[in-house]
Order: sequence, then C-alpha cells, then structure tokens
Amino acid sequence: MTIQRTNLSPRTEPERSGEARFSAGFVWGMATASYQIEGAVAEDGRTPSIWDTFSRVPGAVLAGDTGEVACDHYHRMPADVDLLADLGATSYRFSVAWPRVRPDAGPVNPAGLAFYDRLVDELLARDIAPWLTLYHWDLPQVLEDAGGWTNRDTAFRFVDHATAVHDVLGDRVPTWTTLNEPFCSSLLGYAAGHHAPGRQEGAAGLVAAHHLLLAHGLATEELRSRGADRLGLSLNLTVPDPSDQSDPVDVDAARRIDALHNRLFLDPVLRGSYPADLLDDTAHLTWQGAPWTDVVRDGDLATIAAPIDVLGVNYYHGNEVSGHPRTDVVGIGSDQPERVALSPFVGSEHVTFPSRGLPVTDMGWEIQPGGLHRLLRRLHDDYPRLPIYLTETGAAFADRPDERGDVHDPDRIAFLDAYLRAVHRAIEEGVDVRGFFQWSFMDNFEWAFGYAKRFGLVYVDYATQERIPKSSARWYADLARTGILPSPDPTGR
Ligand code: FCB
Repeated sequence: MTIQRTNLSPRTEPERSGEARFSAGFVWGMATASYQIEGAVAEDGRTPSIWDTFSRVPGAVLAGDTGEVACDHYHRMPADVDLLADLGATSYRFSVAWPRVRPDAGPVNPAGLAFYDRLVDELLARDIAPWLTLYHWDLPQVLEDAGGWTNRDTAFRFVDHATAVHDVLGDRVPTWTTLNEPFCSSLLGYAAGHHAPGRQEGAAGLVAAHHLLLAHGLATEELRSRGADRLGLSLNLTVPDPSDQSDPVDVDAARRIDALHNRLFLDPVLRGSYPADLLDDTAHLTWQGAPWTDVVRDGDLATIAAPIDVLGVNYYHGNEVSGHPRTDVVGIGSDQPERVALSPFVGSEHVTFPSRGLPVTDMGWEIQPGGLHRLLRRLHDDYPRLPIYLTETGAAFADRPDERGDVHDPDRIAFLDAYLRAVHRAIEEGVDVRGFFQWSFMDNFEWAFGYAKRFGLVYVDYATQERIPKSSARWYADLARTGILPSPDPTGR
C-alpha cells in the first residue's frame, strides 16, 4: 500500500510540498499503554483487568491473543527506555495499570507502583519527559464484577487509584492525563462489545461515558488540590462528512456521529453541558427502567468541567457518513474480527460509513490528513482554547523484516509526513499545537486485533522479543533532532 497522491480529494487533503519547520520546544513523543506492552500480568501482586478476562473469551480477540506476555516490557523496561532515547523521543506517553497499583481495587501495592517509579527515573535520567495516563482501559476485573463503569462508585475508586499514583510520582511527572479515549472505554466496551468488558447493552455505553467523565473531573480536582498543574485527558475525535451535503438524511447522520463521537466528551469537559441534540437523539434510551440521563446528578457537570491545562487529541481518520443503507463501507475501528459487535453509535445505529476511495492502512482506516487539519481548526474555533497535543496518531502496516533483517516501512513514513504537515499547517494558522506523540513506540497488542496489527516505529519479533527499529524510527529520530520535515522527494515518497 502506498499513499497515491492522485487519489486524495482536494476537499480533504492539504498540499504536501515544501519544507516544514517546527519550533524548538515542540514535543516529539512516542506513546504506549500498559496492557498493550507490559505482559507480566500476574507479577508483583497484579490481579486481572477486564482485558485479561475479555481476551480469553472465545472469538473476542483475533487468534485468541492476550496481553499475558505482550512485549515483555515489564522485564525489559530499561533497555526499552534506552531505545526511546536512541530514537530521539523528547517525551514518552505511557499508562499506569490500575490492577498493579491497587490489585483488585484494594489497598495500594508498593511493588506494583515501584515499576512506574523506576520507569520515571529511567526516563528522567535520559532527559525524556514522562507523560502519564492514569487509565488506558485496564479496569480491575473486580470493579467490573460490581458493574464496572455503569456503577457510579467506579468513578470514586478511580480517584483512589489516581491519588496512589500521584503520591509516588507527583514530584517527577509533569503531565497527568486521566483518561485515554473514553469513547472506546464506554461505547466500544459497553454498547458495541468490541472492547472489554464486551457488554452489548446500548444505554450502558452512555452511562459508562458519564461515569468515566465524572471520574475524570473528580480526579482532576483531587490532583489539582495536591499540586498538579498540568492536567488533561486524551479524546479520540473524528471528522464526519455527510455523503451528500444536500441530503438532509446524510447531514443528520453526520451530526449524530459528531454528537456521539466528539461532543459527548468535548462539551461536558470544556463547556460543562451535554449537547442538546445528543440528549434528544438518545432520549428513548433507558437504564434500569429510567431515562439514562437520570444517572447525571446535580453538580456532576460542574465537576466534569473542572479546568484542565492541556487537551490531548488522538486522531487516526474521519469518515464519510450516510444515513442510508450502504454496502461500500470502510473500517471505522469497531469491526469485530470473529465475534459480532454492535454499532457503538447508540440511538443512531442506522448510520453507515461509505468508502470515498481514499487509501487505507492495514486497519482498513482511511488515510486522511486533511481531516486532522480541519479538526484542529474546529477545536480552535469552537472551544475554549487550550494547548493541544496530538497524543496519538500512527498507522498499522503489514511490516516484516527483509532477508537482511531490516524493516522498511515507507508507507508509515509517508503517513506521518502527511499528518505532521496537517499539524504544521494548523500551527501556521494560529492553532496552539505543542507536541506530537506517535502511536506507537513499538508493535504491541492491538486490542481485539491481537498481535496482527503493527503500529510500531520499532518492530517486535514476538518469538524472541527482539526489537528492530524500522526505517520510520530513524526518520522520526531525525525529525525529533532537527524539527524539520524535508521537502518531499519528487518521486512522491
Ligand atoms: C487507539 C488506542 C491505542 C491504540 C490505537 C491504534 O484507539 O488508544 O491504544 O490501540 O488506537
């Protein structure tokens, strides 16, 4: 697969030309998440998370893969941090496994916390700024057994987790983000059943979203009171374009996706309210015999809107959106490999995502840098302005070592070049984007797709745990060193 520039529609794709220079302080990061890389799921007191349980459900994860060993990062962490330093990362975004910190959501486990304590010291020793995510989807299974994110109490247990981590790392970690992609941990986990815990209960997705947001607000307030001064969260946002701008059914479908994917999270956090149209679209959905919105208590929205200092944006692709049945559809990220997943878009299940002929990655996701540019502009125009960090973007391709053992991935370089040009253009137009975290530092457990999808700058041979930096890793290291995207070469690569 190569990015064929001729295929890109001018409506969505910016020109790819000239040199692009980023400012000296721009953050060049790489990202991972605990369950996707650590392995060692039963060591030093860690107990099961919902992903340990879900990955054992037949058909839930491609090839029956689990995170039991993953990249064995728990045992190889210092060498992995050396590699991060070699590749020029100026910041490293990682997440902390709740079931290590408070196994079974019980008392603090010093042995589990010690791992992150060492990680942070290793990073600082190499001048890499730690960027910490408190929740990247590995909820303790015991909490799920008590209702998981549909249980309001889970939000308060999250504060316990956050304070335990902050007590140990608060003196050395500058940036604290609460949640990674609550869209996925609510709607994909509780409505679609594509992610752990695999529930398919419609309104439960919205209830989970509310409690995740409440957890974010409560933890933000608590950590702020303990002195944290760079707080935020990472939202995965999309850019929905109606198939036919003049067809009210398609326009309505795009509005619905915007509400459920973007504004369900942006509005409460940044404006202190749920979008009125989303409340209308979902008014018929009930939870435990009452309208789902009954779970929203007085004061919750003020808590959720606790001031934050940075906004993390994860963007992979937008979509064309239709309100009509279509068969020419593309991957949206919730296509279950072997088990039937439902639509995550509760109350708007009729919506379809037609292909617009753009090239796609190995996930089936459209390569659409122009969408990123428009998203950044929109955040700047529509919401209170905060420093923005791209906390994830990247691409899966079917990488493999050649006969010399090297891994060449020109498609990933072209992808990152295009997405970074979109960021650069937005910065030139006045949007305050301050950093870019490539997903991912190394190949890892890609949730329901197991080890089949490779997003890394570094190739992982899972049989030997050998790490092989791909050509994109060398390219990214140069970029981190110079801050300059060179003019594309005339062959188009
Ligand atoms: C995001 C997740 C991350 C990774 C990428 C490909 O939704 O945050 O863990 O799986 O997608």
